[in-house]
Amino acid sequence: MQVYKVGGAVRDRLLGLPVTDVDRVVVGATTEEMLAKGFRPVGADFPVFLHPKTGEEYALARTERKSGRGYGGFTFYASPEVTLEEDLIRRDLTINAMAEDDQLNLTDPYHGQRDLEARILRHVSPAFAEDPLRVLRVARFAARYAGLGFTVADETMGLMRQLSESGELQALTAERSWKEISRALMEDHPQVFIQVLRDCGALKELMPEVDALFGVPQPETHHPEIDTGLHTLSVLEQSALLKQPLTVRWACLLHDLGKGLTPEEEWPRHIAHEHTGLKLIKAVNERFKAPKDCQELALLVGQYHTHGHRALELKASTLLELLQSFDIYRRPQRFEEFIAACEMDARGRKGLEQRSYPQADYLRGAAKAARAVAVQPLLEQGFKGPELGEALKRERLKALKAYKEAATA
Ligand code: CTP
Repeated sequence: MQVYKVGGAVRDRLLGLPVTDVDRVVVGATTEEMLAKGFRPVGADFPVFLHPKTGEEYALARTERKSGRGYGGFTFYASPEVTLEEDLIRRDLTINAMAEDDQLNLTDPYHGQRDLEARILRHVSPAFAEDPLRVLRVARFAARYAGLGFTVADETMGLMRQLSESGELQALTAERSWKEISRALMEDHPQVFIQVLRDCGALKELMPEVDALFGVPQPETHHPEIDTGLHTLSVLEQSALLKQPLTVRWACLLHDLGKGLTPEEEWPRHIAHEHTGLKLIKAVNERFKAPKDCQELALLVGQYHTHGHRALELKASTLLELLQSFDIYRRPQRFEEFIAACEMDARGRKGLEQRSYPQADYLRGAAKAARAVAVQPLLEQGFKGPELGEALKRERLKALKAYKEAATA
């Protein structure tokens, strides 16, 4: 049997990037031989094994044929006769379809190295269409390598468009899609992920609520970029530039969904978009079964981002309501993430990227003032149960009034 490194490990080594995961393909072996060597089988679907010592993945060379809709509809054929070239041709991109042996001899039948040098993401063969998740993968690689100048080949975009139009993306499971989406959002250029999905028609299939933002105008005075879709891309871009966590990036992507529902006759204004957007944010959250912290923050940012922007003008009572909604006493981190998302929203405007955001420190100060109200004296005065809650609220309101006066004097 021969063993080769394949996929990302070869690609990233040739790009001079650090290699984290190493996948290997085994040619000329049977399942029985692998088991006899102590490899542990994983996954019910594919002939993949873990090395008994290193735990790294070894897959038998295989060909795949489609037998149904979606990812579940795969049959695979693995046998010692399957050649390396046959295994590589069914992979997604030419830059992912190279193999190397222990001596670093490269097997590159589909010209991955040439495409690496030309900075092109190109599918290997029509077998690309066997797994619709690859539409998201290509968009994710575009987001990851945009800084190196990679773009998607026209013919690959064409295939991605066909796949999107075929309705096949609907068959992807929430788990597989979320894995790609969350990884793509954490790349250096997450806005490229959304842009590529939009360009091939996949965004309309996966997140029509985000797709609908393109072509929707906002008032030029506040939003020199005007288009709500472009604004969303810029907000996402800022969130990556400022190294925000996934929760914030997800909230950035979804914060303005309500603007896609505004009747055209009300354009460019979007009255109450914070509220109309909530059901859309909820729908996208649930479609991809986003983790709870992502879901929560996206809804809170959707509902309160304009409060964040108007923080300095808010009445003390409104400020208190805001702080209470975030449960800042038990969830300080979440409020920080809200502030960050608001700041990304403000920065994601054409020409205003560097403008300072004094609301951030003001909100932090307000949270600090509200938290500083001690419970002990109220307990000593005999307050308990709901009355204690009310008394605490009154004290916090007093503290916020004082804070507001001092801060805005
Ligand atoms: N692959 C594929 N189609 C998929 C998933 C994976 O063709 N839907 C192939 C590609 O050749 C890929 C390899 O399997 O390079 C390993 O997949 P994976 O570990 O998911 O990705 P990597 O390419 O290693 O990239 P990453 O750095 O994102 O892990």
